[in-house]
Amino acid sequence: MVEIAILGFGTVGSGIAEVIDRNQDAIRRDFPVGIHVKYILDLRDFPDSPYADRVVHDIHVIINDPEVEVVCETMGGKKPAYEFSKMALEAGKSVCTSNKELVDALGGELAVIAKQHNCSYLFEASVGGGIPILRPLRTSFSQEFITDVIGILNGTTNYILTKMETEGLDFETALRQAQENGFAERNPEADIEGYDPCRKIAILASLVTGGNVKYQQVPCEGITKIDREDFAYAERLGRAVKLLGVCHHDQKTNKVYVRTAPYLVPKGHPLYSVSDVFNAILVRGNMVGDLMFYGSGAGKLPTASAVVSDVIECIQNRGRNIDIGLKNTDAILEDPSEVMNQFFVRVSRSEREKACRLFGDGILEVENDELPDEFAFVTPMISASAFESKVRELSTYEHSIRLL
Ligand code: HSE
Repeated sequence: MVEIAILGFGTVGSGIAEVIDRNQDAIRRDFPVGIHVKYILDLRDFPDSPYADRVVHDIHVIINDPEVEVVCETMGGKKPAYEFSKMALEAGKSVCTSNKELVDALGGELAVIAKQHNCSYLFEASVGGGIPILRPLRTSFSQEFITDVIGILNGTTNYILTKMETEGLDFETALRQAQENGFAERNPEADIEGYDPCRKIAILASLVTGGNVKYQQVPCEGITKIDREDFAYAERLGRAVKLLGVCHHDQKTNKVYVRTAPYLVPKGHPLYSVSDVFNAILVRGNMVGDLMFYGSGAGKLPTASAVVSDVIECIQNRGRNIDIGLKNTDAILEDPSEVMNQFFVRVSRSEREKACRLFGDGILEVENDELPDEFAFVTPMISASAFESKVRELSTYEHSIRLL
């Protein structure tokens, strides 16, 4: 048996133990030796758990045990997860994690430490939960230049938007339902303000470019301004409102453009019909074209399954580093204010003429008989900075949505 340890016995940590126990036969099919959880590190004790005898409170017990080959870090946050991951890697133990906050902040550094110690730092579960996306990016796209990654990367907000669209709920009611169903956290800020998907697109952009993209560098907008009327307009435009993480890597300039924001996705686009808590990630290679990865982006067992897939890969590559293409250098970022888009805007009908004057001939009015006092329109292609300076002249402007 290969011995592993789990750091943090919360939802994902306990899920890892469950996946290993319930699927030991499946694991042995490809990996006959099998996997055994030797230690669980947590501040708490779990006297009623079948794993009670494996709980330890001192990280050194794990670090100093040569039998432990892989450490699963599911503590979340940076402290003490960073320190413990570093200790494990320096002891030659591979680390597999679902901790996107740590991967985003210090993943490049930990990947370098792993390389120096002939072990691996893998984080499949940090993006898209159970969806295999990071491994395909590094194994199936080696012959490709990836130009775009566009993802629905947050299950909570996708659930809220789906409820608003299909049941006509307002934002607060849909959020409350998401919380009652256990999808949204009690403090849902990271989901609804877009910070969670922003971290995930930053990780994807880092892997695609090979340079660090920090989530603080990524313009981030959540879904709190989206209202029921936006969905009526979206329907008229033949589109759906989706919170997307967008990454475009320019092959000529090598610059990368990254953003998290609500977008109007057209019918027929593969992301249009991704609803409820599901996630999907569309990857565009310059030779292969579009591929889409779809599945459960969150949840105990899907996320734990992704961590265990990393554990198996680490063991199969025992004694050597799996190069994940994450370097400790910075990516070259495109100036997001110069990137062109069409924007959907709603203002008071009294500002119709001014809006037409500001945005010119290419403006497209979107009718809605139920809101006769509004003037809703789609702008021509325009840079974000030019759009902002024009739209600020409209005193009744509140928010806009980009068109994909
Ligand atoms: N809160 C996240 C979501 C799951 O709703 O997708 C963890 O990344």
